[in-house]
Amino acid sequence: MPFDRTIKIAPSILSADFADFGREIRAIEAQGADWVHVDVMDGHFVPNLTFGPPAVKAFRPHVKTVMDVHLMIAPVDPYIEAFADAGSDLITAHVEAGPHIHRTLQAIRATGVKAGIALNPGTPAEAVEPLLDLVDMVLVMTVNPGFGGQSFLDMTAKIARIRAMIGDRPVHIQVDGGITPQTAPLVAAAGADVLVAGSAVFKGGSVATPEPYGANIAAIRDAATRA
Ligand code: DX5
Ligand code: ZN
Repeated sequence: MPFDRTIKIAPSILSADFADFGREIRAIEAQGADWVHVDVMDGHFVPNLTFGPPAVKAFRPHVKTVMDVHLMIAPVDPYIEAFADAGSDLITAHVEAGPHIHRTLQAIRATGVKAGIALNPGTPAEAVEPLLDLVDMVLVMTVNPGFGGQSFLDMTAKIARIRAMIGDRPVHIQVDGGITPQTAPLVAAAGADVLVAGSAVFKGGSVATPEPYGANIAAIRDAATRA
């Protein structure tokens, strides 16, 4: 995973066909996805349930790019090893998920997996300032996590502040929630380089007709790159 700040599109498989993850993952990668974003929800930290480590492990052989695992779970520490063993390339935990975030980030890095820190829309940029030397990515949520298809909350000022705090550290800024060709230029101009999109990537396509995935990915990438 060499570091660069070019725009990367990470489709969220939360919007895929849940009976066909292997083919969906291969389809989005063939259609230009840079990373594959896996949304893990526990019905406690967020009001929805999705995947555990065995499902993530089953996705692994299908992912040829980067398996980017977003943990929306609390507590998070007891599950880090299992998600690392499942083959995650990057594990992101929420700063709101527990009282000892340094321990969480150290635990992720101790497994050899890259570490991300996520902030809910209501959490200020300053919450990540003491953590920037412990992470490979900051995820600025642009919706309250829990569901795909919600509308974008404007976090551009927060993204710009975090981009300035990062300076020349090799730390990505990811955004997640409500990303479309309309909102992508706003977050890219503010400093985000990894754009998660669920509904805006999967809409109009299927494993049988995957070309719309490619057009949707290209439209988001082009809009962000022009910003
Ligand atoms: C939100 C999830 C997102 C979500 C994005 O809780 O973390 O990854 O799937 O979905 P869209 O792009 O549809 O807003
Ligand atoms: Zn996510």
